[in-house]
Amino acid sequence: MKGKLTVDLSNQISTIDNRIYSALIEHLGRGVYDGLYNPDHPKSDDNGFRQDVVKAVKDLNIDLIRYPGGNFVSGFNWEDSIGPKDKRPTRLDLAWRSIETNQFGLHEFMKWTSQTGTRPDMAVNLGSRGIDAARNLIEYCNFPGGTYWSDLRKKNGAKDPFKIKTWCLGNEMDGDWQIGHKTAAEYGRLAHETAKVMRLVDPDIDLVVSGSSTREMATFGSWEETVLDHTYDDVDYLSLHRYYDNEENNLHNFLAKSIDFDEFISGIVAVCDAVKARKHSNKTINLALDEWNVWYHSHKQDDETAPWQNAPHLLEDHYNFEDALMVGSMLITLLKHADRVKIACLAQLVNVIAPIMTDDQGIWLQSIFFPFMQVSKYGRGIALVPRQTSDTYDSKDFKAVPYLDSLAVFNSEEKEIVIFAENKGEQPMDFQTEIQDSQVSDIIEATQFCGYDIKQTNEDQQMSIQANNKVSLSDSKITATLQPLSWNMFRVKIAE
Ligand code: AHR
Repeated sequence: MKGKLTVDLSNQISTIDNRIYSALIEHLGRGVYDGLYNPDHPKSDDNGFRQDVVKAVKDLNIDLIRYPGGNFVSGFNWEDSIGPKDKRPTRLDLAWRSIETNQFGLHEFMKWTSQTGTRPDMAVNLGSRGIDAARNLIEYCNFPGGTYWSDLRKKNGAKDPFKIKTWCLGNEMDGDWQIGHKTAAEYGRLAHETAKVMRLVDPDIDLVVSGSSTREMATFGSWEETVLDHTYDDVDYLSLHRYYDNEENNLHNFLAKSIDFDEFISGIVAVCDAVKARKHSNKTINLALDEWNVWYHSHKQDDETAPWQNAPHLLEDHYNFEDALMVGSMLITLLKHADRVKIACLAQLVNVIAPIMTDDQGIWLQSIFFPFMQVSKYGRGIALVPRQTSDTYDSKDFKAVPYLDSLAVFNSEEKEIVIFAENKGEQPMDFQTEIQDSQVSDIIEATQFCGYDIKQTNEDQQMSIQANNKVSLSDSKITATLQPLSWNMFRVKIAE
């Protein structure tokens, strides 16, 4: 099998926004409690923050943390989560039918973000609540002082405002499972009015309006159009969510779903631009893909979990090797859309459909941790247009699927080109990268992630990234063997 990637430093998609390496943390299952927060755990500091988790989060180079949900936010009273811990109410979390103790709240979250080197991306509740709760929350967080809510923040220990820049206007408001589900027109009006008052409190914020929760929604497309009709001038980003599964146990069809992902993103870009044209606007709405991942392994167990527990085991997918390949392919697809996708949150981060898992002893890293970690570390700079040739295959739902998925990133500071390449086939692939307008002086690093059974998971921590020794450089052409079903990365130096 053969595959070739040709790149040209002057043929650029866009600078990659560092916020595409973000994640969601929701009050859901063991995502917060028992995940990042557990005052009784020997690995926790005085705040109750698990230091083994903090280290793993740092290793992932995460930028924004979307919080506190997800579906959870649509029934959440943010005021419950501030003030002395012993005075905070325990509530029913109706989204996940669990008990919420509010022992980890707004101030704890802010402290945790500074410990992990991440930044907040805060969602307001537009399900059970609305304008009033949102304006009070932003006053509490971002107003310097001298008013009721900002002085209460000070009294609760935060002298300086949190200065939260990015805010989500609700979550998945198109879904009938959502607390306070709305029609597109109802939501559009509410989002417009909420955005207006939030900007009156702090004009410098960025706002994300909720798009479709999945491509399969009957309202997909028309939801975005109506919502943007109401909010085009008020918001900066439109959200989209996408999860894939291999419920049918068909590897090649599963990996081909990156084509669906690509079309999904392009479709939403087209809707945004159609509204722009209709409104004769000069403003471009970019995308916040603020939930994406593989998700399905835990569905059955979740259906059987008894309700009203504290931190139950929910959405605890144990990811296998084929899931890691799918996540790798989704990451390459994201980079292909770097011109319009400016925020992307892996959903989620700890224990809940997550790359990092905790147990009483410590943490373990899931298969999907590895491609995400490499792309978030080295996929910084400018995404280059991938001109690619490859053998192809047909799967159940997709025709002419390239076995090769590849893209190169130019890091001008480091004078480095980083190539990400995935071989979706079961044969080795002769892979060549040609850099057309620059001299490659050296191969800095060549790695591969391969050789595992596609159903192998990583509870025993056997998985790791290995060196790829089958790579050579000649006349700025990089030639390598991509192992069957493999995720690969090549870093090369550009001559001055
Ligand atoms: O990430 C899990 C859930 O998936 C989120 O709470 C919701 O927004 C989405 O449906």
